Amino acid sequence: MKLFSGSSNRPLAERIAKELHVSLSSLEMFIFPDGERRIRIEENVVEEDTVIIQPTATPGDQNYMELFFIADGLRRSGARLLTAVIPYLGYQRQDHVFRDGEAVSLEVIVKTMEAVGIQKLISFDLHSIKIPEVFKIPVTHLSALPLFAKLIKEKKWDNTDTVLVSPDKGGIRRIKILSEMLGDLPYATIVKNRDLATGFVEAASIDGPIGKRMIMVDDMISSGSTMIKAAELLQSKGTEKVIAMATHPVFSSDAPNLLEDSQISKIYVTDTVYIPKEKYFSKLHMLSVAEMIATELKKGV
Ligand code: R5P
Repeated sequence: MKLFSGSSNRPLAERIAKELHVSLSSLEMFIFPDGERRIRIEENVVEEDTVIIQPTATPGDQNYMELFFIADGLRRSGARLLTAVIPYLGYQRQDHVFRDGEAVSLEVIVKTMEAVGIQKLISFDLHSIKIPEVFKIPVTHLSALPLFAKLIKEKKWDNTDTVLVSPDKGGIRRIKILSEMLGDLPYATIVKNRDLATGFVEAASIDGPIGKRMIMVDDMISSGSTMIKAAELLQSKGTEKVIAMATHPVFSSDAPNLLEDSQISKIYVTDTVYIPKEKYFSKLHMLSVAEMIATELKKGV
């Protein structure tokens, strides 16, 4: 098996390679002055099983193009099986038509991935459990929830002071699974309204108990509005401490500053998305999905 990394999250690719006791395979990536990329596979991959590691968070378009070019290079070089490890799958939120006239971005991405020869996908905490159905190729849908459950146990937060919270109704399945992993820890759900045109988020109300410690769990943090508004609502209901856990630190716009200044005391994310140094903040803590991905790859790509 040969592992190739695009440029979107090389530290994660290196961690996965380390777990597998292999080195990353070599590819040349030349960036033209206008930003276009030329990719060349520098190793013999004839009849090899190959893996491309390339999360497609910001800049999503560029990261997808790199992925497609690497896949094309591998296929033309005779690789046998192409597995794409895309821990964060960009454009997954637009998986159907919400309003008349909208494009289904995810479907376009899926068709292109299949067209360039990707034969298998490994991804994490997809926005909807129905997303794998959009693909014709096999999709392994992993979750960071076991990492969050382990952390909660290690911190000894799995006690009567804690209530798990989904910051929106869409996350109810996720929070139920985590609750089961933690011996049926109580959970609550926030009713969130988002204006589709402006993106404005309102945490309207909460269904379920309020604990001294509320642990909010979501698939991703993008602008930070969902977590921040939810935390404000929880504080207004009398909770003492709000902790946030999210798989994908997409961190668009001013999210790191807003989260640092928010009422959330600690924010745990994973390395499915690379976080540049300038986006680090003191409340942020990182868990790694590398071992889970390596375990999956060991089963056979
Ligand atoms: C939405 O349904 C997702 O599960 C997340 O809650 C959302 O994408 C987070 O976005 P933001 O941080 O911009 O509120």
